[in-house]
Amino acid sequence: MQTVRLRRLREKEFIREWVSETALYPKHIILPYFVVEGRNVKKEIRSMPGVYHLSIDNVLKDLKDAYGIKAILLFGVAKTKDAIGSESYKKNGVVQEAIKSIKKKYNDLIIMTDVCLCGYTSHGHCGIVRNKRIDNDETLEVLAKIAVSHANAGADFVAPSAMMDGQVKAIRQALDKKGYQDVGILAYSAKYASNFYGPFREALDSAPQFGDRKSYQMDYRNSDEALREIKQDIDEGADIVMVKPALAYLDIIYRAKQKFNIPIAAYNVSGEYSAIKKLSEGDKMKEEELALEVLTSIKRAGADLIISYFGKKIGKWLC
Ligand code: PBG
Repeated sequence: MQTVRLRRLREKEFIREWVSETALYPKHIILPYFVVEGRNVKKEIRSMPGVYHLSIDNVLKDLKDAYGIKAILLFGVAKTKDAIGSESYKKNGVVQEAIKSIKKKYNDLIIMTDVCLCGYTSHGHCGIVRNKRIDNDETLEVLAKIAVSHANAGADFVAPSAMMDGQVKAIRQALDKKGYQDVGILAYSAKYASNFYGPFREALDSAPQFGDRKSYQMDYRNSDEALREIKQDIDEGADIVMVKPALAYLDIIYRAKQKFNIPIAAYNVSGEYSAIKKLSEGDKMKEEELALEVLTSIKRAGADLIISYFGKKIGKWLC
């Protein structure tokens, strides 16, 4: 048999470009923001170099050069927290106000909002606590309230991330009842109890004050269960489903993409971001090349959309 010369298609840059199978564009990236109260606040998050707590005026400024970005994901950093996270659904809460201001200035930007309690509760859990347990159904009511308040402010998509059973259904019903049929749901469907969320919990000051999140977030030994979670969310009315984190869960992204015909998002989480930042501190590995390799691999596994803290840079790198 003669030698099969696969290298022929690798020999020259323009041929490699021509036959490349996976394309990553800025439009695939959802850019997260951590919004704080006040004016003119820009404070770097210690464990996430290059990511900031921004007040609304600075989010507006920052978006000016978010080249190619079509969608953002807002997290509110609450100043006052209580046991039931009541700050989360306030009409003039920081996320609600941010949505209004951003919509006014950037009409075509897709605004997504994280719907969860952990950033707003004094105990740091993603739901209402009763006798040291996270009460699923009581939490659903609050999640629905938060989602409606975000829709009311003008959010295009709400993104429930509390991992409560039935959260997509509860939110879909509440939105429809209030006339928000056009507001979509990006469901954090297969969200694992991951060690890679560490830096994010610093950003939101949301580390659980007792116990951990393993009674609601998924066990990383499981993958069939992830497909059940995703199926459940699709049945309950999710428009886009998500796997989170991304890098240690490429097999889940792949399986989900093979099985379901719905857009799949993947969250390249804070710890994955910070790891690349650390690796590229010396001059042996370049941030841009590491990040593009990682993000492209997430795309190649089957993700249609990727939430990434590199968001703003990706536009610059790819143009
Ligand atoms: C809220 C939420 C978390 C993240 C997004 N939404 C953290 C958690 O479950 O503690 C993590 C994002 C990241 O690490 O970048 N439930």
